[in-house]
Amino acid sequence: MEAQPKQTPERSAYYAKIGESNLAPLWEVLRGLIRKEPQSAALPVLWRYDEIRPYILQAGKLITAKEAERRVLVLENPGLRGKSQITNSLYAGLQLILPGEVAPAHRHSQSALRFIVEGHGAYTAVDGEKTLMEPGDFVITPSWTWHDHGNDSKEPMVWMDGLDIPIVAAFDAQFAEGYPDERQPATRPIGDSLARYGSGLMPVGYETRVKTSPVFNYPYSRTREALEQMRKAEAWDPCHGLKLRYVNPVDGGWAMPTIGTFMQLLPKGFTSVPYRSTDGTVFSVVEGKGKTVVTGHDGGKITFSWGPRDTFVVPSWLWHTHETDGDAVLFSFSDRPAQDKLGLWREMRGNQANGKG
Ligand SMILES: [Fe+2]
Repeated sequence: MEAQPKQTPERSAYYAKIGESNLAPLWEVLRGLIRKEPQSAALPVLWRYDEIRPYILQAGKLITAKEAERRVLVLENPGLRGKSQITNSLYAGLQLILPGEVAPAHRHSQSALRFIVEGHGAYTAVDGEKTLMEPGDFVITPSWTWHDHGNDSKEPMVWMDGLDIPIVAAFDAQFAEGYPDERQPATRPIGDSLARYGSGLMPVGYETRVKTSPVFNYPYSRTREALEQMRKAEAWDPCHGLKLRYVNPVDGGWAMPTIGTFMQLLPKGFTSVPYRSTDGTVFSVVEGKGKTVVTGHDGGKITFSWGPRDTFVVPSWLWHTHETDGDAVLFSFSDRPAQDKLGLWREMRGNQANGKG
């Protein structure tokens, strides 16, 4: 693009004058609006669970889940400080529920995922069905569904929340509502939706208008087993190892309309080929240890040494590679379904020559 236009007294006076009529010169801002390629303000960041866990538990002494409504420490990207965002399009946080607590029922337009990090047996209830949660489980609360959380176990539970808050805000399309009671009544037994829709089967005549998967808990035990079985064929992708995406069994599409969710297995001693894509991605380490090297817009490299329960984010269009010590399993999520639907998503693999993906 051409150089920035010069400032002259005549032009400045003109800009001030037309500003009174709510007009502005595009040529003064064009280079920032239409860029050659993504240049996210979000930064690559790692949150080590061992370092932040004491703060999460401290919050449990400062405020109850009921008073807080949701007792969450926002994973705030330092490049987007004050915006409650982990990437330009997504929110993430770590939520704590102590034994005996309830996070009261409500619903909202934003879709939410829970990825369980610590604890056993606390529950999320969605539209009358409870699910008990275990580490590595991926749980959905679809847009505009009543949901509450509770912990009837004897230990704290922590999970990562991922929501499309900035996407919904960009459309000014959000609604929210509190439920009259703290908990919603159970109208279906535990495990009902997984049995009906998550077993490679579907009730005959089932039809839906909602955009989200009817399976709202994808248990880690099943996901892990699938990866373990797949490794026997050793079809490792040079960028991703063995990477699966969570699907909506109704149409094979994404499990959530705005957020894509993935689980990948990287084998011992794996070094991935450099990769980048337009969907800034949040990773949560389930098993194993390794390193992720991210190259910033300035060409500088940052290395994250991660282990179980750590969270890190790779912003849009930054080259990165993963290296593992032993086997490693990574959960991740991004706004890829939203970009796909709008025809915006692109990727580039280091083993492609000048590819546009
Ligand atoms: Fe909520």
